[in-house]
Amino acid sequence: MEARRLLCFDPNRSAGVPVPEILTAGWAVDLATNAEEAMDLLDGGHFHVGLALLEAREPCLHSVESLCNADGRMNWIALLPDACLRERGIARLIGESFYDYHTLPADPRRLLATLGHAYGMATLKQEGLDAVEETEEEMVGSSPAMLALFSAIRKVAGVEAPVLITGESGTGKELTAQAIHERSGRAGGPFVAVNCGAIPANLIQSELFGYEKGAFTGASQRRIGRIEAAARGTIFLDEIGDLPLDMQVNLLRFLQERTIERVGSTQPLHIDVRVVAATHVDLARAVAEGRFREDLYYRLHVLDVHVPALRERLGDVEVLARFFFRKFAAEKRSGVEGFSAQAMRAMEGHEWPGNVREMINRVRRAMVMSEHRLITPADLGLERRQSRRRLVSLAEARASAERQAVLNALKHSRNNVTQAAQQLGVSRITLYRLMEKMGIQP
Ligand SMILES: Nc1ncnc2c1ncn2[C@@H]1O[C@H](COP(=O)(O)OP(=O)(O)OP(=O)(O)O)[C@@H](O)[C@H]1O
Ligand SMILES: [Mg+2]
Repeated sequence: MEARRLLCFDPNRSAGVPVPEILTAGWAVDLATNAEEAMDLLDGGHFHVGLALLEAREPCLHSVESLCNADGRMNWIALLPDACLRERGIARLIGESFYDYHTLPADPRRLLATLGHAYGMATLKQEGLDAVEETEEEMVGSSPAMLALFSAIRKVAGVEAPVLITGESGTGKELTAQAIHERSGRAGGPFVAVNCGAIPANLIQSELFGYEKGAFTGASQRRIGRIEAAARGTIFLDEIGDLPLDMQVNLLRFLQERTIERVGSTQPLHIDVRVVAATHVDLARAVAEGRFREDLYYRLHVLDVHVPALRERLGDVEVLARFFFRKFAAEKRSGVEGFSAQAMRAMEGHEWPGNVREMINRVRRAMVMSEHRLITPADLGLERRQSRRRLVSLAEARASAERQAVLNALKHSRNNVTQAAQQLGVSRITLYRLMEKMGIQP
């Protein structure tokens, strides 16, 4: 069995490891006699459980509190003289920051049982955190613009009507379509993506609707189309603006009647499928110019989800850059340790015409090409003087200033949430909520 790690914090050098049974019960114990030592140990590796030995009129109350909140994945247990519990400061701290407490002298059997429970609970908490991180990894962002997108995704997911996703190239339209599917009642069914711009015009009909054996030369057997393949799920029609006009008629008929006919058949088939379409061109303009059917436009445009350009997502550039860095570092070993401050600034000033896709490419290339410990602007191909600062809305400016204040306070307190909250003049809970909203991990 892997050793369970226990951090024993004994600021008053009272007892050392309080009961020797801990060592024989499969615990690997590290002792710290002051807060700094304890923090260093925490930085050096993950502990599951902490044990703090406190005294009456505890002189180090503040460092005990900081320590207990330094790693949210840990559970802390206090070991203290009975009299301690009558002191307001200590009682409050135990209530707020500890998993449990035992009074001295400790009964080794009971203490070991508590440590075991605390370990089990810490492991469960950890699994919960991992699961949340995984789902959040699908779509990263904490800017107001992205929060609005997440909320739109949740709203349209619960409805059956067609959705039209708009946004520049590389912003995450396909990811958005998948997110809608996964949050909808059709999540158990297939998600089938068709790029209408990539299929030759003469093949689109049979690709979408399928064909019967003998429908044309070469049709040696029946083949079902993409719409039929998406039955009970979602069909994602990407670059819908590229659909030829005659195919637009057929698609419109499907949207109205919910039936298809395979090429070479006159038998209508009812298909239960939700349509989600995306376009990076201005469809309303295509309608005005006669390149896109107005009736189809209104059929598709029942619900509309806009994916913001990366330059509109204030604060997300850093979050995304670090996210992709971690992702690629996990895929492939790299000597690079992170981004230099200049690189971060260059990315923040860049306009990102290719949006998230462009960022993926730049970060990936920089990680391969960089000959430095930290990625430079040149590694990212962003060394030129940056374009003029664009104008931002008041809401964006506020959000960005708030985020920066939180990041600064955390940095200043070496990630101690309690201290950072004090500095910011908010409660610890409020700070945790803000951090969660902003996608900042302690
Ligand atoms: N918010 C995000 N968090 C993490 N990854 C993202 C995010 N947005 C986009 N991506 C990634 O960026 C890439 C481009 O996204 P996607 O293909 O969904 O964009 P698109 O708008 O369909 O682009 P295109 O117009 O080029 O087809 C994908 O690899 C996707 O996983
Ligand atoms: Mg796409």
